[in-house]
Amino acid sequence: MNPSVASPNPAPAWQGIIHRYRARLPVTHETPVVTLLEGNTPLIRVDNFVRAIGGDFSLYLKYEAMNPTASFKDRGMTLAVSKAKERGASVVICASTGNTSASAAAYAARAGLKCVVLLPHGKIALGKLAQALMYGAQTLTIEGNFDMALRIVRELGETGQVEVVNSVNPVRIEGQKTASFEICDQLGRAPDFHFLPVGNAGNITAYWRGFREYYAAGLSTRLPQMHGWQAAGAAPIVDGQPVENPQTVATAIRIGNPASWSGATAAVKESGGRIDKVTDDEILNAYRLIARSEGIFVEPACAAPLAGLIRSVRAGLIPSGSVVTATMTGHGLKDPDTAMSQSEFKPTVVAATFEAVRAKIGF
Ligand code: F0G
Repeated sequence: MNPSVASPNPAPAWQGIIHRYRARLPVTHETPVVTLLEGNTPLIRVDNFVRAIGGDFSLYLKYEAMNPTASFKDRGMTLAVSKAKERGASVVICASTGNTSASAAAYAARAGLKCVVLLPHGKIALGKLAQALMYGAQTLTIEGNFDMALRIVRELGETGQVEVVNSVNPVRIEGQKTASFEICDQLGRAPDFHFLPVGNAGNITAYWRGFREYYAAGLSTRLPQMHGWQAAGAAPIVDGQPVENPQTVATAIRIGNPASWSGATAAVKESGGRIDKVTDDEILNAYRLIARSEGIFVEPACAAPLAGLIRSVRAGLIPSGSVVTATMTGHGLKDPDTAMSQSEFKPTVVAATFEAVRAKIGF
């Protein structure tokens, strides 16, 4: 680089969420910070999508896929693994539908800790499984669902021999609330509505805490309505009772008995928002639409709030001129099987000649 054109006052390099929001997080200067420089993810305005669904408002997607392990889990995990290290833990453990395990495995590798992950056998998106294995976690796939895995993990936590890094560990929620801080900082205000998917319900709890903290500190002047969306086959909070055998194409939120149930209901009630459910068909439709209309590839769980937004627009619930934000929690590349089976387009095999390719393109 030519030094004469370098900025005389370069912006300080991003050093992760603990560094940025230290004053609002449960850390001291003794806490060893285990970071992969998570956070500072883009907030992308998506006018094409809004036009396609017939809305008249501004929609911004918090694209959490741009975190180091390609999901929002890294915000809580930098804190959980830093605190585990501070306490002298040698093993971290979690149950997961895939993203928590990928994140825990990565941060444990970084910290030099052993990581054990419990996953529902056969119900983990391929990319997430590959991540856990590559980062070197001991990977146990149980013959049962996420809720069963979490029950076992909590019991193991009670032995005192392992550090549980699921969101039942309160520091996870603390780390995840920083996404709300970033949204307010990036928008220059809090949104009118915030939409997000709900599985174990830690993230909706965390976002609401973050928005409230910024408001209480005078750093924002309004509180958004929180709108959480579950998949119809895994909607215990909406249905008002645990689901024994949850089912949905959005495997990330295939959860029947969320740990942060009360946090979700409080967020919705206190904010005047809503928690509701969408079908797998609605999820898949929104999943394709956001990729095609905006070039934003998310995993199916992220399409639940987008499908919810489509419903809300049709029901006339989003006043014109509103500022709406939605969390895109994980990257589309994590679940290549769903992408390949749901894409409307298939690759076309063609002879390796100029003429054959030109003929296929149609000119
Ligand atoms: N979106 C994605 C991509 C997720 O991985 C999860 C949860 C959620 C949404 C829901 O967030 O649980 O805080 O309500 N994944 C967890 C996991 C359960 O194990 O990776 P939540």
